[in-house]
Amino acid sequence: MKTYAIGIDLGTTHSSIAVWQGDRPTLIPNALGEYLTPSVVSYDDGHILVGKAAYYRKYTHPRNTVSVFKRAIGSGKEYRLADKNFNARELCSIVLSSLKKDAENYLDEEITEVVVSVPAYFNDQQRKEVGLAATMVGLNAVRLINEPTAAALAYNVEQKKDGQYLVFDLGGGTFDVSIVEYTAGIIEVHASSGNNRLGGEDFTEDLVDIVLERTGGERETTTLREMQAIYSACEEAKKNYRKSMFIEYGFTNQHGQYEEGIFFSEVELDTIWRNTLKKLKQPLEQSLSDANVNVRDIDDVIFVGGASRLPHVQKMATRLLSRFGRHDLDPETVVCIGATIQAAYRLRHKAIEDLVITDVCPYSLGVAAEVNGQSGVFSPVLERNTIVPTSRVQRYCTKYDTDSEIVISIFQGESFWAKDNIHIEDISIDVSTCAANHPIDVRFSYDVNGLLDVNIDVVDKPQQVEKTIDTSPTGIGEGEIKESREKLKALKIHPREKIPNIVLLNRLHKLYEETLGQARKSIEMLIISFEEALSTQDSRHIDKARQHISEMLAEQYE
Ligand SMILES: Nc1ncnc2c1ncn2[C@@H]1O[C@H](COP(=O)(O)OP(=O)(O)OP(=O)(O)O)[C@@H](O)[C@H]1O
Ligand SMILES: [Mg+2]
Repeated sequence: MKTYAIGIDLGTTHSSIAVWQGDRPTLIPNALGEYLTPSVVSYDDGHILVGKAAYYRKYTHPRNTVSVFKRAIGSGKEYRLADKNFNARELCSIVLSSLKKDAENYLDEEITEVVVSVPAYFNDQQRKEVGLAATMVGLNAVRLINEPTAAALAYNVEQKKDGQYLVFDLGGGTFDVSIVEYTAGIIEVHASSGNNRLGGEDFTEDLVDIVLERTGGERETTTLREMQAIYSACEEAKKNYRKSMFIEYGFTNQHGQYEEGIFFSEVELDTIWRNTLKKLKQPLEQSLSDANVNVRDIDDVIFVGGASRLPHVQKMATRLLSRFGRHDLDPETVVCIGATIQAAYRLRHKAIEDLVITDVCPYSLGVAAEVNGQSGVFSPVLERNTIVPTSRVQRYCTKYDTDSEIVISIFQGESFWAKDNIHIEDISIDVSTCAANHPIDVRFSYDVNGLLDVNIDVVDKPQQVEKTIDTSPTGIGEGEIKESREKLKALKIHPREKIPNIVLLNRLHKLYEETLGQARKSIEMLIISFEEALSTQDSRHIDKARQHISEMLAEQYE
């Protein structure tokens, strides 16, 4: 079996997969011939739908459809799809499995090894769960690469221009900033910062809030279906926004008059998005300061992620960075291209064998300790933006003769108090044979995938020398893994050749719900005629009907 170099960008809103072919990365099309697959999963009559077929059902069947779950990976949050519960990791597995099938169809061979991109600011648990999500569907995530690093890699390989760059990656759900330097084939990430809860979705949600305010609605009392309709109108308006915005969402105003939608000027949008835009500032400033780079010394700002297309985001970035950003490579696929370059680099493909790339650990990792009599203080063992792979050791001491066991609590973050940071794991060690002030060495090793190993050495006590954090996700036992695997295996998936038909039908049903009057009547006719074509079970006839209806829709609705 041939080993392909394959990269996957598992995105909050879209995912993609690419393969290294010849001497360059090639994006792989899905069953619709598209390179971006919406990260949406829906449950339909015993079958699981992924991508666009599921995306349309967000509006027609909101109870059976889920999206934006990548944000919740590692949190234990459960989503209900019809009568089944899924956690975010399992939903990511379903998306990965769909990408795997697309690649296998394209290559006509099974694939097993992939490089998967993750937000730079993803924590240890989230990274481990992405790895596990891949394992569950028979993919070995041989490497996790930070999304902005992947984008930087793609730019470097495509453009080969030395200098200092700031990668500004605003996707659907995460914001990452990296300061990267290129010199003669060497790519060095100097610092990364970010916010795991900031992305294009937040700009849409701000619009949803204002629509609810104007229409007198409330999130709690508005039906799920109605909420999806508002969301859809806001998302469309956001993507098409230039100088002013019209959110096409009809409602009856307080004077009893029907309005077709709501208009917002650029200045009004400045106010609506002010708080969300403000959140871009801190990661930008922190990454520059950690890299010890003045904004004047940045040669270029590279825009990555679909939300970097939003004019207000660009305006804010320009204001904060005193220069315009570049969009030379497609901001929605550049991460996938970079992950594929990393995969090819790993397999030592000739075109990129001379490349050298270094990355950093974007956050500090340490333990809770007592410092000068004050307990619960965060004591960093590895400081943020240390070059990886790395291994650092810090010495601590037992406190009392009478201690029989101590617990080393590991945290990630930058806050003074350990409890204000993200708790990663507790490791208890036996110190019953130690007197007070007995030295304990805590070693943190952080690998290129961003995964942490901890060794604890009770000095001079060979019988209890070290304890290593298991690299399996914390809190997920074998039983749960087995259960997940069985649940995923039992899911029924439509044959690939049926997917374009299902997508078209789901789109027609979404349009039927959205339209009224004559427009709705025409959609009704299209649904009936397509159902008739499907009932013939004649694939040539069905393909012809699908093409014809798709062309009609393209004329009227795109
Ligand atoms: N023209 C546009 N104008 C404004 N926003 C856009 C535009 N096109 C796409 N977006 C927004 O970009 C976001 C999706 O970007 P992208 O596909 O890069 O994210 P992702 O990779 O799925 O997410 P993440 O990287 O955070 O996991 C969505 O919020 C979408 O609304
Ligand atoms: Mg992305």
